[in-house]
Amino acid sequence: MNTLKIMTIFGTRPEAIKMAPVIKQLEADPGTTPIIVATSQHREMLQQVLEIFNIQPDYDLKIMAQQQTLSEITSKVILGLDTILQEEQPDLVLVHGDTTTTMAASMSAFYHQIPVGHVEAGLRTWDKYSPYPEEMNRMLTDDISDLYFAPTQLSKDNLLQEHHPESQIFITGNTAIDALRYTIRIDYHHDVLTAIPRDHRFILLTMHRRENQGQPMRDTFKAIKDVVRNTPDLDVVYPVHLSPRVQSVAHEVFDGVDRVHLIAPLDVVDFHGIAARSSFIMTDSGGVQEEAPSLNKPVLVLRDSTERPEGVAAGTLKVVGTATQAVKDAMLSLLNNPQEYHAMATAHNPYGDGHAAERIVSICRDYLSRKK
Ligand code: UD1
Ligand code: UDP
Repeated sequence: MNTLKIMTIFGTRPEAIKMAPVIKQLEADPGTTPIIVATSQHREMLQQVLEIFNIQPDYDLKIMAQQQTLSEITSKVILGLDTILQEEQPDLVLVHGDTTTTMAASMSAFYHQIPVGHVEAGLRTWDKYSPYPEEMNRMLTDDISDLYFAPTQLSKDNLLQEHHPESQIFITGNTAIDALRYTIRIDYHHDVLTAIPRDHRFILLTMHRRENQGQPMRDTFKAIKDVVRNTPDLDVVYPVHLSPRVQSVAHEVFDGVDRVHLIAPLDVVDFHGIAARSSFIMTDSGGVQEEAPSLNKPVLVLRDSTERPEGVAAGTLKVVGTATQAVKDAMLSLLNNPQEYHAMATAHNPYGDGHAAERIVSICRDYLSRKK
C-alpha cells in the first residue's frame, strides 16, 4: 500500500512530550509511515521523555552544546536537516510549539518545498521579546506553515488576525492533555515525597525562561525563600532545569535553605505524579500552565505576560510577574485564603479533551489525500 510519509521533528523536552501522542497515533495508523527526527537541542532532558514514551528517533542531529546560543541552534538545525529532508522527501513535516528547533526545522522544510503542519499554532503575547525568542519563533513558524493545529478558539482567532487562511486552521485541543493519559499513575510515589512531613504542604516550582534568567529569577527566588522561612509547615520542590544559567541562580539563592528541595529534572511521569500531590505550582513554563488545570492545581505564573490567557480566564492561572513583593503577596494569598485556592483548583481546563492527536493525524491524512 502507498502510505503517507509524515516526518516529526523536535528537539527539547516540551516538544517531545507534546509530540509524543501524535507520534503514537501515527505509529498506530496503517496509512502513514512516520519518520522521527530529534535535533537533540536538549540531551538528558529529551532522553527522559523518549524513554517514558518508548520513542526511538530514526535520525538524531545531536546538536546540544553547553550554553548554546540561538544562532548556533538555528544554523546547526538547518544544516543538519538538509540531507535528511533531501533523501527522505516526506509528504509533510510536523513541528511543535515555539522553540528554535521548531522555527529552524520549519525553515528547512520550506527550503525543500515540503509542507509544514504546526502543532500548537497561534499562541501569541504580541510582544516579540516576551517570551524570548519563543514569540518570534512561533510567528515565523506560522508564516511558513500550511496546516495550523490551534489548541483553542483564541489561538485560531490570533491566526485569522494575521490573515492565515481559515480553511487551513483546525481547532484540535492541546496534545499536552493527551500526554497526561500516558503519565498519570494512581499509586505514584517518589523519594522526595518521603522527605516532606505528612502535615506539610508543598509547592512545586519550575523556572527557566531566557528573559527571566539573572535578576528576575533572583527576585522571585528571594520571595519564595522569605515565605518558606516564615511558614514552618511549607516545603518547596524544585526540579532545576539543566541550563547552567538557571542552575547557578537556583543554588546561589536556595543552597542551605531548609525545606527547599533542589532536585534534578524529573521525568514526566515523576513530574506529573509530584504535581498531582502538590498544593500549588509556581512556574514560567508554557506546558505546565496547560497541564495544571487537569491536575486541579492553581498556578502562579512567574512572567509578566502569558500566551495562555484561556487559563487566566478559566481561573486556574494567575500572572504574578517576578518582582519580590508581588510574588510574596500572591503566595501568601493562595496559602491563606481557602476560597481563592478552591476557585483556582476547581476551574475547568480550557485546553482540550485529550484527543487532539487523533484529530491532527486525521486532518493530515485528509490534507495529503487531497493533494495526491
Ligand atoms: C529551550 C527553548 C525554550 C523551551 C525550553 C524548554 C529555545 C531557544 N529555547 O530553552 O523555548 O521553553 O527549552 O525547557 O529554543 N542543557 C543540558 N541538558 C539538557 C538540556 C539543556 O545540559 O538536556 C543545558 C545546556 O547547557 C544548554 C542549556 O541548557 O546549552 C540551554 O538549553 P537551550 O535549549 O538553549 O535553552 P532552554 O533554556 O533549555
Ligand atoms: N516537566 C518534566 N520534568 C520537570 C519539569 C517539567 O517532565 O522536571 C514537563 C512538564 O510536565 C511539561 C514540560 O516538561 O510537560 C514543560 O517543559 P519546560 O518547562 O521545560 O518547557 P516549556 O513548556 O516552558 O516550553
